[in-house]
Amino acid sequence: MHLLVTGGAGFIGSHFVLRHVERYPEDRLIVLDKLTYAADRTFLAPVEDRIVFVQGDIADQALVARLVEEHAVETIVNFAAETHVDNSIAEAAPFLHTNVVGTQALIEVCKLHPGVRLLHISTDEVYGDIDDEDLPRVVGDPLLPSSPYAASKAAAEMLVMAAMRTFNIPACVTRCTNNYGPHQASEKFLPVVIRNALRGQPIPIYAQGKNKRDWLYVTDHCDAVETILHTDWAFSDAKIGGSGHFFNISADNERQNIDVAREILRILGKPESLLTFVADRPGHDWRYALNSSNTRALGWAPAVPFEDGLLRTIDWYRSRL
Ligand SMILES: NC(=O)c1ccc[n+]([C@@H]2O[C@H](COP(=O)([O-])OP(=O)(O)OC[C@H]3O[C@@H](n4cnc5c(N)ncnc54)[C@H](O)[C@@H]3O)[C@@H](O)[C@H]2O)c1
Repeated sequence: MHLLVTGGAGFIGSHFVLRHVERYPEDRLIVLDKLTYAADRTFLAPVEDRIVFVQGDIADQALVARLVEEHAVETIVNFAAETHVDNSIAEAAPFLHTNVVGTQALIEVCKLHPGVRLLHISTDEVYGDIDDEDLPRVVGDPLLPSSPYAASKAAAEMLVMAAMRTFNIPACVTRCTNNYGPHQASEKFLPVVIRNALRGQPIPIYAQGKNKRDWLYVTDHCDAVETILHTDWAFSDAKIGGSGHFFNISADNERQNIDVAREILRILGKPESLLTFVADRPGHDWRYALNSSNTRALGWAPAVPFEDGLLRTIDWYRSRL
């Protein structure tokens, strides 16, 4: 396969690139990344000589088209995004640029190159807030995004759906729960908790920390994406917007933020007095939960237990402090 991987210097994209190069050494990987504050290209060092790395913007349609033509790209895997919810609340424009305009630029390139597949990485946040008594969300449930980030990801999905219907573009969309693991941007919840705990600094926790997330180790997410990548895409008979094209990815590992923070403090032998409760984020979703049976039906299942993944993650940050 010849793959164009966007956002490949970010958290999940970089793990995907490292794993893919090891497993499929005969494939050609072109990595396109704008290298925003969230990127860290050094994580790709072990495979730099086996990939083509290009710094650039996915919204630069001419650049994407050139890469697709030069490297005979067959599939675009779109990890590139602005991803931090708090940043989207402060300023939505970069989120609209990359997540919406950028995704449409990829679609335009697919339109000009019939047969090029688009695997678009989305998020559980598009379903919006759910209550404790609600069933985990299934593909086909309404999209009710709460933050500008989630709204931009939902908008991107709608553009992909429209491209499938109007232009017959072969596409799939994945919606995954919260990822954790090494090499996540330092602003995210787990890196903040681990770093501040290691330094003995206050750990900010929104409200009472009771919000629930379903935590999936990052390489399990990558493996789910690989599974979908290597499955025959049922374009002809699957209903657009249905479970033949849209895939939920989850761990069934729901935990309250406060419990995750306490577990990290326990592992590091640090006092709970470091936990500092701060004013809640506006529009903060209470809970996300997904039914991922359609991805599991392809043969995928999470492989890394939370306790192991958390230890690996803590070790990674500890060795870099
Ligand atoms: N992290 C999670 O828990 C999670 C969960 C579900 C879905 N997702 C989705 O997975 C994808 C990757 O998330 P992540 O956590 O690795 O994000 P990240 O913020 O760590 O990395 C994003 C990468 O995209 C690059 N990028 C940003 N704008 C770009 C542009 N215009 N052109 C090219 N590259 C650009 C950045 O430089 C960075 O390397 C995103 O689409 C996100 O919505 C993330």
